[in-house]
Amino acid sequence: MLLDPGMDLTLRPMRYPLFYEMYRSAIKNTWTVDEVDFTSDVADIRDKLSEAERHLIKRLVAFFATGDSIVSNNLVLNLYKHINAPEARMYLSRQLYEEALHVQFYLTLLDTYLPNEEERVAAFTAIENIPSIKYKGEFCFRWIESINDLSSLQTRQDRQRFLLNLVCFACCIEGLFFFAAFAYVYFLRSKGLLHGLASGTNWVFRDESCHMNFAFSVIDQVRAEEPDLFDDEMRKNIIKMMDEAVECEMVFSKDVLGLGIAGLSERDMRSYLEYVADQRLAVLGIAPVYHSKNPFPFMELQDVQELTNFFERRVAAYQVGVTGEVSFNEDF
Ligand SMILES: [Fe+2]
Ligand SMILES: [Fe+2]
Repeated sequence: MLLDPGMDLTLRPMRYPLFYEMYRSAIKNTWTVDEVDFTSDVADIRDKLSEAERHLIKRLVAFFATGDSIVSNNLVLNLYKHINAPEARMYLSRQLYEEALHVQFYLTLLDTYLPNEEERVAAFTAIENIPSIKYKGEFCFRWIESINDLSSLQTRQDRQRFLLNLVCFACCIEGLFFFAAFAYVYFLRSKGLLHGLASGTNWVFRDESCHMNFAFSVIDQVRAEEPDLFDDEMRKNIIKMMDEAVECEMVFSKDVLGLGIAGLSERDMRSYLEYVADQRLAVLGIAPVYHSKNPFPFMELQDVQELTNFFERRVAAYQVGVTGEVSFNEDF
């Protein structure tokens, strides 16, 4: 079984071809940070952003500064260790590379947006110094550490604890904290601002969606192999964890929107988070808890733009392969 302890190295016969297919399609989605053009963002920040929007973006980049590194750490310390199939570990290796790419993307973003060195250093230490970001960080660390003592998944209880960690990273961190961050980015794009950030975010968004899908496939597989792991207690724990994540993100939201942004209220943000939380629960076969609607039409557009982006992307990838130095501009 997938969570049986060990270091399975047998790719043939392959037990989980789906994970191998996910690995292969992730390879086809390769992009590079050099393709993102931040030129118009710098002018937007200087000339167009209001004081309140500038505060929003400052907080957002400070969150981005460490978010993907946290996910990478959990991947290495927990997921890679316990998901025992070589084809699944191939996918996780690819995900680890994508997380590094995201870290590189946000590093470049911070270097561009914050030319002042002191501000830059402050952004990278936000996880210690800015309470709303520290709070989210503590939530993540608590869940990373929750299975520190598990060297192998021997008992039913061990496996349930591991699954909670997996669900947390897919549904609460990649699936909620990051999606809230994307919502701020796409809100700004809907006002014609920061297109460089939005174009890079399109690719990060797609990667994160794939990471979630992989985690959900692992969960489906484990569930098929060991259905008794998903008992009422497990469901209750997931709902509680999801609710904590929503409240955690709302603390950040209050800070980010603190100066008041026209067209983006705390109430809308809460509805959006609850709507996303219900969606994540639905994938896990858990009935909706919040019954909230998506208040953000610009997030519904995202799927359509993903498709457009995909076709443009093929052209860009081909061009990069030929010349090695084509810069890629998007214009939605
Ligand atoms: Fe990421
Ligand atoms: Fe991710």
